[in-house]
Amino acid sequence: MLKDKNIILGVCGSIAAYKSATLVRLLVKAGANVKVILTADAANFITPLTLATLSKHPVYTQYFEEETGVWSNHVELGLWADYMLVAPASANTLAKMATGLCDNLLTAVYLSAKCPVLVAPAMDLDMWKHETTQTNIEKLLSYGNLLIAPGKGELASGLYGEGRMAEPEEIVSFLSETIRKDLPLLGKKVLVTAGPTYEAIDPVRFIGNHSSGKMGFAIADRFASLGADVTLITGPTAEKSTQQLNRIDVVSAAQMLAACKKAFSDVQITVMSAAVADYTPVTTASQKIKKTSSEFSLELKKTEDILATLGKLKTKNQLLVGFALETENEEEHAKGKLTRKNLDLIVLNSLNDKGAGFKMDTNKITIFNKAFEKTVFEMKSKTEVAKDICSEILKLI
Ligand code: CTP
Repeated sequence: MLKDKNIILGVCGSIAAYKSATLVRLLVKAGANVKVILTADAANFITPLTLATLSKHPVYTQYFEEETGVWSNHVELGLWADYMLVAPASANTLAKMATGLCDNLLTAVYLSAKCPVLVAPAMDLDMWKHETTQTNIEKLLSYGNLLIAPGKGELASGLYGEGRMAEPEEIVSFLSETIRKDLPLLGKKVLVTAGPTYEAIDPVRFIGNHSSGKMGFAIADRFASLGADVTLITGPTAEKSTQQLNRIDVVSAAQMLAACKKAFSDVQITVMSAAVADYTPVTTASQKIKKTSSEFSLELKKTEDILATLGKLKTKNQLLVGFALETENEEEHAKGKLTRKNLDLIVLNSLNDKGAGFKMDTNKITIFNKAFEKTVFEMKSKTEVAKDICSEILKLI
């Protein structure tokens, strides 16, 4: 969940600040990019050096560096963050956040941030119970900020009660759960096909194509990272997914057809990026064909067009996206396929574009919707192209 997420961690003046070292470590270990802001008081409890080393980023303590005059841009920091976490959040900082006071970098970033903000308070039990603090918490909740409630236990004052900051592990799982709930495709089922198909001629030979599966795997991974429950039906490939998904390996077009038909009724979004063989041998020899004659011809029959079949089965709650790989009259062919196969979007690849096509790590695409409106994209890595394709699909939901 936390992989590649940009997290601002605001640390306030509280003895619980010593736990922020563990917190940063856990966040970084989970793959997050963490930038830490310390209030002046927090720097008395934990050193910037410790947190800078653990977060692998300089720690921000003030609006500008006194010696160099380098300015810490609170607006940029606020916009950089996917999530802002204030842990430990002192009564003082909570009060400033609730009232919009920004006399330090942390609270200025809070006001600039557009992302979800989570607070994990830490203070003595009477401070926590005080009406002012509780009113401030209510205010923050009403702004949409999230509370990671303090626990009960022995406090720094020696008193026992509520006010102890949640443990770093609890904070990380609260944040992960928040991220999970924010995923735009949570609960949606998605089917993606990838790779080539191999049509057997005999036990040792086949008709195949140059598809590597890279594009389909990138799309499947992107959908999974958006929270979707992804089924990836793939032809023979060396590709590996980086996400948790339901991978079904097939070899031939007929096997891919059967697997797609089985999965289709259950999914809301289908993206057919596989390079399915259009023809398959009429018969497959049961033994290896010997080279007895000087000429040899193979009789082929058309395979069933999986995408067109799914287009006929499609209901109004389903989205179907196809690919078109073309070498001439690209746009006309793509639009023809979009209509003929009853698709919602078609992704056009032209082999005339440098950096597009099989086995490459890059691709250049144009997407047409049903109204034939086209969006042209720059050449990008297939991971970035997958993001563009998924964003276009998200616009239709
Ligand atoms: N496709 C499919 N089943 C097939 C052939 C193609 O599902 N038997 C799908 C591909 O996955 C792709 C789309 O159809 O999403 C277009 O594939 P493409 O090879 O570009 O076009 P075809 O429809 O096969 O037409 P042609 O070969 O004549 O260009």
